[in-house]
Amino acid sequence: MRAGAYAVVVGATLVLAGCGNTQNALAPKSHQAQDIASLFWWMMGGAWIGLAVVVGLLVIAWRRRGGAEGADEKTAERRGWFVVIGAGMALPIAVIAALFVISDVFVIRTTQAPAASATRLTVLVTGHQWWWEFRYPGTRAVTANELHIPIRAPVRVEVRTADVIHSFWVPQLNRKIDAIPGRTNSIELDADAVGSYRGQCAEFCGVQHAHMGIDLVAESEAEFRQWLARQARTASPPTTAAASRGQELFTSAGCQSCHAIRGTAAAGDVGPDLTHLASRRTLGALAIPNTRDYLRSWITESQEVKPGNQMPNLDLAPDRLDDLVAYLQGLR
Ligand code: CUA
Repeated sequence: MRAGAYAVVVGATLVLAGCGNTQNALAPKSHQAQDIASLFWWMMGGAWIGLAVVVGLLVIAWRRRGGAEGADEKTAERRGWFVVIGAGMALPIAVIAALFVISDVFVIRTTQAPAASATRLTVLVTGHQWWWEFRYPGTRAVTANELHIPIRAPVRVEVRTADVIHSFWVPQLNRKIDAIPGRTNSIELDADAVGSYRGQCAEFCGVQHAHMGIDLVAESEAEFRQWLARQARTASPPTTAAASRGQELFTSAGCQSCHAIRGTAAAGDVGPDLTHLASRRTLGALAIPNTRDYLRSWITESQEVKPGNQMPNLDLAPDRLDDLVAYLQGLR
């Protein structure tokens, strides 16, 4: 990686780290995540008690290391068997069975996706190497890596993959759900509070697996409806001469063979839909912030920023690059 690109990635990581989105399963923001966190703490507590008992028995055994003799020896042996059968077999079986019932019967059930008929909103999620596509059935809205949902309303998320196995995971809202070729898996998202929650692909899917983030925005029903209506619209036409040249360049340079911009001739489906690119907060699935300078570096050296991704360097002259950036930044 060249020094310039290295600085871009390091700088972006610091900027994004300051965004305040946490990715912490132990800071739950939904009733499902709360159940998962409680289960974790019960298991953790049980494990510590188990460890304390074992260490306690070790200490007792060490202090009595001299051993018993004669009649005492028989009693000690009987007690020893009692400890092995009771504390070594019966107790662990009972504890593990109880944890199985709690996790499998209760937590799995409470974190399950509701039936499609029971929710007002369904989002279709498709995992790609290495970005996420979000569609809202019943509307034309298509976005990438930034998922908006209304708060306090169960949302059914249907997860698929376009290539390899990925796993959709927003730890503060629910458990992970795998995206498996040929299958559709679903999960429920039901955020308690307005906020921005970071999610992440949770199944190794290639070299840029770590750069497959999700920016989940939970907002009020009214704000969400507004956002959705905006995303469903076709792209706004360019308003400056530079942006018009940029639009022309988008088609002639080859961008349109991979990206779609609704309302124009660009209809590629290899990379993210760019109709409202400028409304998104990040580029490259949360790899870098979506600002003018980062957008420029994403176009010219995306292989340095996120090696292995499918975007080629089109070697644009600086003034043509300015036009292209002006056009893309107008796609609000
Ligand atoms: Cu997609 Cu890891």
